[in-house]
Amino acid sequence: MDYDYKIAVIIAAAGKGERIGKAVPKQFISIKGKEILEHTINVFRGIEMLDVFLALPEEFVDGAEAKYKVKKVVAGGKTRQESVYNAFKCIDAEQYKWVLVHDAARPFLSAQLLGKVLDQTMISGSAVPVLELSDTVKTVSEDTVTNTLERDTLRAVQTPQGFEYGILKKAFDRANDEDFTGNDESALLERIGESVYTVQGEKINFKITTEEDLDIAKIMMGTVLFQKVDRENDNPSGNIRPRIRVGTGFDVHKIVSGREMIIGGVNMPSPDGLMGHSDADVLTHAIMDAILGAAGLPDIGINFPNNDEKYRDIFSIKLLEQVGNIIREKGGTIVNIDATLIGERPRIAPYREEMISNISKALRIDPKSVSIKGTTTEKLGFLGREEGVAAEAVVLVEFF
Ligand code: CTP
Ligand code: MG
Repeated sequence: MDYDYKIAVIIAAAGKGERIGKAVPKQFISIKGKEILEHTINVFRGIEMLDVFLALPEEFVDGAEAKYKVKKVVAGGKTRQESVYNAFKCIDAEQYKWVLVHDAARPFLSAQLLGKVLDQTMISGSAVPVLELSDTVKTVSEDTVTNTLERDTLRAVQTPQGFEYGILKKAFDRANDEDFTGNDESALLERIGESVYTVQGEKINFKITTEEDLDIAKIMMGTVLFQKVDRENDNPSGNIRPRIRVGTGFDVHKIVSGREMIIGGVNMPSPDGLMGHSDADVLTHAIMDAILGAAGLPDIGINFPNNDEKYRDIFSIKLLEQVGNIIREKGGTIVNIDATLIGERPRIAPYREEMISNISKALRIDPKSVSIKGTTTEKLGFLGREEGVAAEAVVLVEFF
């Protein structure tokens, strides 16, 4: 494959979304904390040979380059074709040999399909993903059937549509000269006799068009097993990783005299306390390790080494805040935390709410997502002899 040139991706996001008819155009509707448009842009993010050119409604252009972190933002036009052309005009023919055009309203584009369209475009000069129709197709007039079509030669066409720059330029020039408006870019090629090659599309790559589609999109993004494209880790399963990941953490600190007993960020009344380089907040440490574990990151000992003076006697809730930042940067949202403090003492019941409040504030999550329990070991073992306190935690993290 010829990867010397870059590929320009035009995302058409300048429509009004009239069929859905919400207060904002559909591409700006948030699902799971992110606009549909952001979900779509994320599919292309991090692929070095791609640059995104975004067409937005005029009133959304201001500040959008910084917000969406794309190469270029332009104002769209009255028709989709005009919007795409406005972006196309900014693409430098010297730099970009291929152009992909994708609907903002298709956030479920997979890495596989993107790869297929790119490969076919590089081989043939154009590529569009198509689906065979599984339903019988009829023409109707008002509410009466007028004809049944021969299904075998019909295809539903999706985006991204890929083109060699020169071919698309020629098609746009001719369409502009002749004042022709097509439904999609490939229609512009067809009318000037350029071949349009097809690749197998994916049902999951549907366009959010109606309110029902929006509901389906929400269900899909909320589904635990739904997977996301992972650009950071090239893995054999095709750059796909699960959205939901679990992590566990476990920690023990020794009870000694002359130290404070800080647990869950609460300085508990106690004749003695926990030994450690930091404040030895055993519960907070278990929670931090669980969060880091869910993200596949090394444990707190590596992130915050106990021979680093910076961390001497540090309030561990501060470190938890940093772990919260790390997880957000990785695109993670904590779904819930369930932690247990294990030992004969201290009794946590009177301080549970305060601990939950400290932890949820540090992580900027809903306190209802945090559960803290206490148990003893029936006086057995080192915990039973009150030589130390242990804690374990499980967290669930959802990645976007
Ligand atoms: N689009 C665009 N400029 C336009 C019209 C549409 O960039 N003037 C974009 C849309 O934002 C969308 C894609 O083209 O991502 C596909 O169009 P469609 O699904 O028809 O979206 P809308 O035109 O926004 O919706 P509607 O037709 O219901 O108004
Ligand atoms: Mg439209």
